[in-house]
Amino acid sequence: MKRVLVVTGGGDCPGLNAVIRAIVKRAMHEKDWEVVGSIQAFDGILREPTEIVILDNKAVSGIHVRGGTILGTTNKGGPFAWPVKNDDGTWSGVDRSDEMLRKLKHLGIDAVINIGGDGSQRISQALYEKGCNIIGIPKTIDNDLSGTDFTFGFQTAVQTATEAVDKLVTTAASHNRVLILEVMGRDAGWIALHASIAAGAEVCLIPEIPYDPVKLVKRLNERFDKGKGFANIVIAEGAKSVDGSMHFRESTDKSYANKHLGGVAYKLMKELKDAGLEVDMRETVLGHLQRGGMPTANDRILAAQFGVKAFEMVLEKDFGKMVAYHHPNVISVPLVEAIGKYNYVLPDSDIVRTAYGLGICFGN
Ligand code: F6P
Repeated sequence: MKRVLVVTGGGDCPGLNAVIRAIVKRAMHEKDWEVVGSIQAFDGILREPTEIVILDNKAVSGIHVRGGTILGTTNKGGPFAWPVKNDDGTWSGVDRSDEMLRKLKHLGIDAVINIGGDGSQRISQALYEKGCNIIGIPKTIDNDLSGTDFTFGFQTAVQTATEAVDKLVTTAASHNRVLILEVMGRDAGWIALHASIAAGAEVCLIPEIPYDPVKLVKRLNERFDKGKGFANIVIAEGAKSVDGSMHFRESTDKSYANKHLGGVAYKLMKELKDAGLEVDMRETVLGHLQRGGMPTANDRILAAQFGVKAFEMVLEKDFGKMVAYHHPNVISVPLVEAIGKYNYVLPDSDIVRTAYGLGICFGN
């Protein structure tokens, strides 16, 4: 019997379970393959005793509609930076990749499918360079991975953000206020942009287009002067003002490598007040609501396509590659292509032109 190991790493995202199910369903057509999953990314392999589970038809039955991942996940550590506490209370990352590869061999693992975002696919590439038969599946609600047109989970996050703006519009109009909705988007403003277009927000602020609070106030005042006594702003958590400043929070997580974002809506509110905006404002930080819940039908379909394709790449020994959606096909691209650069919103792209055409202001 041959064995493929499935791993979910990084932040969770709607559609992960649908991918796991698709891999298992496709593998069931082959008599000589078994699917197993590692608990909490590669930690399940690195822990003693090992934590892996058999993924058979029963284990994945009906899970495609569920948010989260049945395998659990983590965005800390990993085989190249296993967290170890120093005597002074700080944390260091230890390279345990050789040990992990030996363990995979011992467990009879013939191939690995690593479902994850940028950080996880960097781990995939590094493991591939060490001889591991690995395939990546792109995952992130932020849609910031290059090499693929879209990642699953993004559509669901956009739906959640759009519904939030729809609700905020009515309360903004009732109270003649400016309502600010902060959505996720560390480096790329895809969720903010798509939700602004879908919901009809007046202002959209994204990391790729620095905003000027003074210009924003001018624009908002023009709107209020015309008698339209409310406005809705959607801001990505990674948005920057023209002075380049970003908003970070202190992390209380142990050995967390990323800087914590969240709270830029409060910074914006102060900037608008300082720039002279006199109308009432309120803020909402949507946060992890965007990462949870049932995946939309589109995300389930993309997840299913990615899962089936990944297992077929295992059969074809197409390793060191990542599954990618290039409309209308699902193809394989080298992992290096996916991790080489981010998928940013291009300020002169068609979708941004659409937003300008609708009268959406980017604060520039
Ligand atoms: O990378 C996806 C993302 O959703 C970012 O937009 C956000 O900054 C981050 O995850 C938050 O991750 P967590 O709070 O789970 O560490």
